[in-house]
Amino acid sequence: MKAKIIGTGSYVPPKIITNDDLSKIVDTSDEWIRSRTGIEERRVSDPQTATSDLAYFAAKRALLSSKTDPMSIDLILVATCSPDTLFPSVSCIIQDRLGAQNAAAMDLSAACSGFNFALATAASFIESGNYKNILVVGADTLTKYLDWTDRNTCILFGDGAGAVMLKATDEDCGVLSSYLKAKGEDGKFLVMPGGGSRDPEMKNKRFIRMEGKEVFKFAVKALEESVLEVLKLSGMDISDIDFVIPHQANIRIIDHVIKKFNLPKDKVYVNLQKYGNTSAASIPMALDEAVAGNKIKKGDIVVLSGFGAGLTYAANLVKWG
Ligand code: UT7
Repeated sequence: MKAKIIGTGSYVPPKIITNDDLSKIVDTSDEWIRSRTGIEERRVSDPQTATSDLAYFAAKRALLSSKTDPMSIDLILVATCSPDTLFPSVSCIIQDRLGAQNAAAMDLSAACSGFNFALATAASFIESGNYKNILVVGADTLTKYLDWTDRNTCILFGDGAGAVMLKATDEDCGVLSSYLKAKGEDGKFLVMPGGGSRDPEMKNKRFIRMEGKEVFKFAVKALEESVLEVLKLSGMDISDIDFVIPHQANIRIIDHVIKKFNLPKDKVYVNLQKYGNTSAASIPMALDEAVAGNKIKKGDIVVLSGFGAGLTYAANLVKWG
């Protein structure tokens, strides 16, 4: 049995914040942000909107596109590091809203790598024969945890959600291999200190703190390694790739990989100019856009690869069905 992606969906909140808007609140400029990151604008949730709201709409669209009856879902897995509450989980909240009463539900925390970790977990559940229909969502609202006076971080992130519906198949397609890694010793480079059990009273405000240069160096290596290793696990190499969906964090990180592997630019999907870094949502949002734009066809070998806090990095190799 393999896990086939039978539908995708995504959702972003309507409010747009441009680079020029940011230059009015911190010492930055459109020119700096575009040239150093590739980002032009990002979406920001209003105070009433939580991660589960975005996750719900993305999930609903994935169910529609795959013509899935919510009652047939066996498991809902939501990758997020910005849940509405520590519990109940986002997956339980959307289980209720979707009317998926037969589904088990759990969240998975691997920050920006979360969707790849969740997809690999879901694929294993399907390959083991335990479950047939799994909804995987990546959703985050990191703009709620930004220090809007810190130009090192507030220019990078945006809110969003993406989802895929997986189905057990005996066809020759689906998730072929997964490569998951963690580097806990470097966790200090990207941290949200406040609000956890080490600081329940939030003496540290719940803001993202990042050493950008360190994360950048890690990211370039992580992307490179995860692409090569996930291909190797399926006995393939760079020449077998039809399409790459990298984590949408910084165009300079993506360009490095394009150059390193000599990939044609049109084989690598980029939409970070519109959304910034949407964390666990970035890869499923990009996948949904690529599918809607007919960029991926049946039989294509697609690599989904990303990195994030933890530090973590991961890739999945998918044969499109
Ligand atoms: O999902 C994982 C999440 N994290 C990432 O992917 C982050 C990876 N890192 C990066 O994307 C980059 O390191 C950044 C975009 C965060 C920063 O780019 P950089 O090329 O590494 O810049 P830098 O930190 O070396 O800063 C260069 C200069 C500094 O000024 P001086 O010391 O040369 O005078 C910074 O103070 O740019 C300054 N700077 C800014 N200037 C205008 C830093 N941020 C800004 C800003 N606007 N927003």
